Amino acid sequence: MEEEDLQQLLLTLPAEKNFEGTKSLYLYKGTWVPVSLLRAVDSFQRHFIAQDTDIIVASMPKSGTTWLKALTFSVAKRHIYGPKESPLLTASPHALVPCFEVDLYMKDPQPNLDRAPPPRIFSSHSHFTNLPESIRNSKCKVVYICRNPLDQVVSYFQLVHKFKLHGTPLLSLDECFEKICRGVHVLGPFWDTVLGYWKASLERPDKVLFLKYEDLKEDIISNLKKIAEFLGIPFTEEEEKEGAIEEISRLCSFDNLRNLEVNKNGVLPSGAPNSSFFRKGKVGDWANYLSPSMAENYLKIVEEKLSGSGLTF
Ligand code: A3P
Repeated sequence: MEEEDLQQLLLTLPAEKNFEGTKSLYLYKGTWVPVSLLRAVDSFQRHFIAQDTDIIVASMPKSGTTWLKALTFSVAKRHIYGPKESPLLTASPHALVPCFEVDLYMKDPQPNLDRAPPPRIFSSHSHFTNLPESIRNSKCKVVYICRNPLDQVVSYFQLVHKFKLHGTPLLSLDECFEKICRGVHVLGPFWDTVLGYWKASLERPDKVLFLKYEDLKEDIISNLKKIAEFLGIPFTEEEEKEGAIEEISRLCSFDNLRNLEVNKNGVLPSGAPNSSFFRKGKVGDWANYLSPSMAENYLKIVEEKLSGSGLTF
């Protein structure tokens, strides 16, 4: 999309301030997209051609994407790299599993992705219905992770505060919450994105695997088995006996990844410090930041939006 076309398009889209307080979110195809990503989102949706062997890690930001990238990469590439020589020891999960919108189509509207050896593993923050047709209609697999909406919001809010630009007056937590309750937040509404993947996972369980951050925290071993089975490469009895699943879970654990030199001091090509993807890694941290009434209000809205779907938080 040329700059002129982008400017024309922006004039036609509803716009809102992001948490940083700048008018930068635009409602594009049902998603609140930051203006900085709009062109990449459009290019990805128009041009990406999936291969049947591709694996797509999908999520809302701050839902556990980093963790799922590390787990999926380790499971899918385990026949190439054992945990002791894993590229995760020296590269961020985000470098190994690049994001269509934030990395690949940001740099180039039509990147050449054919050189990556199969299975190619990419990530996306797009809603299911906005994924390119070739992803939805090919045999490639989509692994989705969602998270308790209160923890997701707090994680995002903390990130914005940590990296606030000097001189930019950030929105207060109350102001952010007013927006969140209307579904106005980066790549929201929350309920639309989770419902899209949830319904797709029910209709096509061989195509979309729907995971929850909290479930992974509770039982990583059975979720690793689930991921491997879904990808069509279940762990063999021998692998299980040798402790391959436990090794992957240890390699990808919050403490292990966070303490690796690359994740302490490395920086992604997008400029994001690798350390920004590791904060507390806890379930229920929202209670340290949100009042009970804020939490209750938002959960009530989410519950109403999800009612009848069978999906609960
Ligand atoms: P908190 O801010 O609550 O700590 P994303 O990867 O989608 O950006 O999500 C980031 C959230 O996942 C952060 O949550 C981060 O700490 C947590 N996280 C990152 N790596 C993790 C891991 N290996 N295990 C568990 N949580 C992880």
